[in-house]
Amino acid sequence: MPAMTVPPQSATAGGVGGATLVAGATGYIGKFVAEASLAAGFPTYVLRRSAPAAGPDKEAALRALEEQGAVIVEGSASDMETMERTLRELGIEVVISVLGGRNLLDQLPLIEAAKAAGTVKRFLPSEFGNDVGRADPVEPGRRVYEEKRKVRRAVEAAAIPYTYICCNSIAGWPYHDLHRTAEAAPPLECLPIYGDGNVKAYFVAGCDIGKFTVMAAHDPRALNKTVHFRPPCNFLTMNELASLWEKKIGRSLPRVTITENELLAIAAEHRIPHSFIASFTHDVYIKGCQHRFAMDRIRDVEVTELYPGVPFRTMEECLEEFAAGVLAEKVNGDNTASLSRERSSSVQATCA
Ligand SMILES: NC(=O)c1ccc[n+]([C@@H]2O[C@H](COP(=O)([O-])OP(=O)(O)OC[C@H]3O[C@@H](n4cnc5c(N)ncnc54)[C@H](OP(=O)(O)O)[C@@H]3O)[C@@H](O)[C@H]2O)c1
Repeated sequence: MPAMTVPPQSATAGGVGGATLVAGATGYIGKFVAEASLAAGFPTYVLRRSAPAAGPDKEAALRALEEQGAVIVEGSASDMETMERTLRELGIEVVISVLGGRNLLDQLPLIEAAKAAGTVKRFLPSEFGNDVGRADPVEPGRRVYEEKRKVRRAVEAAAIPYTYICCNSIAGWPYHDLHRTAEAAPPLECLPIYGDGNVKAYFVAGCDIGKFTVMAAHDPRALNKTVHFRPPCNFLTMNELASLWEKKIGRSLPRVTITENELLAIAAEHRIPHSFIASFTHDVYIKGCQHRFAMDRIRDVEVTELYPGVPFRTMEECLEEFAAGVLAEKVNGDNTASLSRERSSSVQATCA
């Protein structure tokens, strides 16, 4: 992961410094946020929920963060009393919530706790995607956005200073029916293209989601703002992404269109997680929800304007890494076949 470019001292000048609690640090996006907070040198506390939520993988993730300097504290965001005591006793100034889609409303007691504790100078609710104030996916994605909007209103009603992070899509091939885009290499057999493949979206590497989130969390210019991640270098259509991947692997692949109606049909099945992802995929790659709105000069800020000198990891670099991984698997004779079968199985039906 690239080193944190902005040291904590500069971030604290006129901004928020001090202790940071990351709720959801064992999660997909939360890991990047917790690592970035530690890399920036902020005292970083991470929550551990009791079993059964935390399994062996989660324990390993917590141990890894602990080795990087994180302090583990026991508790659930939904336990208002414990959270209030924890926030006060630790003097937590920044709360970054990265709770998953199923637990978004657990943030309501956490917000109450932050208000009561009186130490919290900035609260970042679990957003980390499209702007839920503007985007309007079909069901079942819509219900996730309704919950995220409810959390926004709760933070505002509690008068806790906030920052909303709209980082757009995590870098990787945007599968419509897998939910760990950044962890699976793009397809090697055929490339699913949504609609005509000409709608643009922003792709942001996980490490950059973490890095810029932490910078904004401590930045006075992001106070009570929605922060949009719009790196021009990673503003790509599906067709452009496909060409980039083909360049990296040195061969062209068949492209298979997944129509708007096909995505809507998967969304309508109400299967978890497929239907949620299909509804977001439809919103991003068919409707263009990430960019088809005007920025508000008062409420919105754009991250490349806040930090013009800080580079984003390019999508080209991310695909390069995926391609190197695929090659290494082949050379090592690992389970290449089974891996690529696993990765392509999600699109098999549509490739047929
Ligand atoms: N931009 C993108 O492409 C993208 C992709 C995926 C997600 N997202 C967004 O990112 C956010 C996080 O999603 P995710 O997929 O990273 O979630 P995730 O992997 O499911 O992780 C959820 C985390 O929240 C923790 N958690 C849940 N309820 C909790 C509670 N009551 N108290 C304390 N911790 C709790 C879990 O802890 P345990 O270890 O105890 O289970 C886990 O660490 C969501 O808002 C989601 O919509 C964006």
